[in-house]
Amino acid sequence: MKNQIVDVDAAEWKSDSTQNNWVADLEAGKVLHFTRLDFPISALDRHFFTPQIRHSKSRNISLDASGNLKGALGGDQIQAGLSEMMGRFRSQSLSLVNSYFSCYKGYLRLGPTSFRPSLIETRNQSWRADDRRLHVDAFPTRPTDGERILRVFINVNPDKVPRVWRVGEPFEKVVERFLANTAPYSAWRAKALNLFGVTKSLRSEYDHLMLQLHDAMKQDLNYQHNSPQLTIEFPTGSVWVCFSDQASHAAMSGQYMMEQTFHLPVSNQHDTHAGPLAILRRYTGRELI
Ligand code: SIN
Ligand code: FE
Repeated sequence: MKNQIVDVDAAEWKSDSTQNNWVADLEAGKVLHFTRLDFPISALDRHFFTPQIRHSKSRNISLDASGNLKGALGGDQIQAGLSEMMGRFRSQSLSLVNSYFSCYKGYLRLGPTSFRPSLIETRNQSWRADDRRLHVDAFPTRPTDGERILRVFINVNPDKVPRVWRVGEPFEKVVERFLANTAPYSAWRAKALNLFGVTKSLRSEYDHLMLQLHDAMKQDLNYQHNSPQLTIEFPTGSVWVCFSDQASHAAMSGQYMMEQTFHLPVSNQHDTHAGPLAILRRYTGRELI
């Protein structure tokens, strides 16, 4: 279990190292923890560090790929300042993924940047939405057809409160534990969900299985408490990166974090036999998309 988290002792957001295992570790579903990167927070940025800055109807504040800010309260100056801080994290994240994982360069599609100012501990959510339970990321409205979800996280807590995660067992073990009990895929149901606009595109069998695994993990309290896992504290300033559709994770406590999403086509992985789609294909013997 211990090696599900790999420390990267580098001080720069850019790397020209060629002798490393970073991509292999990432594609094996590990969490890469950059312990020494610097991300300065200015006095102006500090004005945004209050949970009241988030619109009560939005889960997070987000900056979409075209630069539109959503979910934040406050006038033009606040909106512009927030966009600037999040945009700065976006460009640092881009530089990090393009150089540390240089084989992905040119193939990553930019997703949203989010700023999460709320205290995790006091969030009140249904079991399915509760990210304090171990899970792999899979979203009911957004089928991916196997496209990878690569995420860069940073703890920006100004009071040095760590963000505490649990990291679970490798994806293969999750599949071995839960696949047999997943409900069968219904192409008819997937069509209906798409027709009624519940999903943004047709939910494939792959996406169906990922949602089933996500739900089965979260629903099983025995699994939550007793499965192999480790707890890690990410101190203020820490940056960590993983394929969140593969690395089992749970966010237990903390406040003030930013996250940048990237999407990677399966065909542009370094090892196209790695990742949830290939693993699920092996276990089911079906194409799934
Ligand atoms: C998640 O991706 O499940 C939550 C991550 C976090 O809020 O730290
Ligand atoms: Fe998650």
